[in-house]
Amino acid sequence: MEIRQHVSLRHLNTFGLESEARYFAELASEDDLRTLLVHPDYLSVPRFILGGGSNVLLTQNVNALVIHPNIKGIEVLEEDDSYIWLQVGGGEVWHELVMYCVRKGYAGIENLSLIPGTVGAAPMQNIGAYGVEVKDVIEKVYALSMKTGLRREFSNAECQFGYRESIFKKELKDQYIITGVVMKLHKKPEFHVGYGDIQKTLEEMNVTELSIRAVSDAVIHIRQSKLPDPAKIGNAGSFFKNPEIEQTQYDALKNVYPTLPGYPTVPGWIKVPAGWLIEQAGWKGFRDGAIGVHERQALVLVNYGGGKGEDIKALSEKIKQSVANQFGISLSTEVNFV
Ligand code: EPU
Repeated sequence: MEIRQHVSLRHLNTFGLESEARYFAELASEDDLRTLLVHPDYLSVPRFILGGGSNVLLTQNVNALVIHPNIKGIEVLEEDDSYIWLQVGGGEVWHELVMYCVRKGYAGIENLSLIPGTVGAAPMQNIGAYGVEVKDVIEKVYALSMKTGLRREFSNAECQFGYRESIFKKELKDQYIITGVVMKLHKKPEFHVGYGDIQKTLEEMNVTELSIRAVSDAVIHIRQSKLPDPAKIGNAGSFFKNPEIEQTQYDALKNVYPTLPGYPTVPGWIKVPAGWLIEQAGWKGFRDGAIGVHERQALVLVNYGGGKGEDIKALSEKIKQSVANQFGISLSTEVNFV
């Protein structure tokens, strides 16, 4: 097990931000991870887990032991006529897993095509897109306690999934490293194409018979047309969450802004797209030197190259303030600040 010092994290965060880890270890097995977690030399050093780096804003150097878990492997645990259970290492690249499932004909995650990041990070914030969330297919999450190195299995219910939320971001924040998941996928697909853009794109693609691949292709097409490719322009997808507001506030705003979109969630509450609010507040396409707000999706903050995390943080605060001033809505971030 190699522990390096003063390691650049620039290629390990999708914003492409420069930041240095005091200590850095990449570990490919649970045994190695456990050994490190209880290693006497590092017991008093703060730890920071960095997976695919697709949901993090590095605003400074990380004065900690940065652990990059990289456990690979896709294994069939069980199958019957209707379902297949896959055990997947947390270090697998999420989109590669989706492509594997599309090839094999396993349905359930095709709507989540092209989401950056690793499999281990997916349950952490319950990744979601186009009407599907990863909680819909997760049966189990395997994790190691950062304190003891002991392994624990979490059932779907124990993960307490919510909108971009899980127990790993709340009560158990910074306490566990996710090493793998078990997913239950469908051999007899149930398609989720209710999300407006998907239906429209499938029609434009002249798809007459739905298939796992067609849905995946449509999602890839939409994402590529709206969202910047992190390999070209640094970003972490949606920077903010879509806020939920009370029906009464929604109705009052709708009087002033008749085009305000809204999606009912629980009775009395409406989710509104943060991208719409930010665009109305005038930020879409805003650029200040190396950083800015994406020109096609206002929910995505970008680093064109050489930007600084602290500047992106300052920009996000200005955006929050102006949305609060104009709409009386407080945005919360989806991206985690370090
Ligand atoms: N909109 C605007 N201006 C913008 C962006 C969006 O007016 O600049 C409006 C759109 O016209 C549409 C609505 O907002 O009426 C929703 O837009 P979109 O379908 O692009 O989705 P979103 O709500 O902005 C969410 C997720 C995305 C996910 C898409 C598709 C969150 C925070 N974001 O974005 O997830 O891909 O739906 O399901 O929930 C991510 O989490 O990183 C992410 C990319």
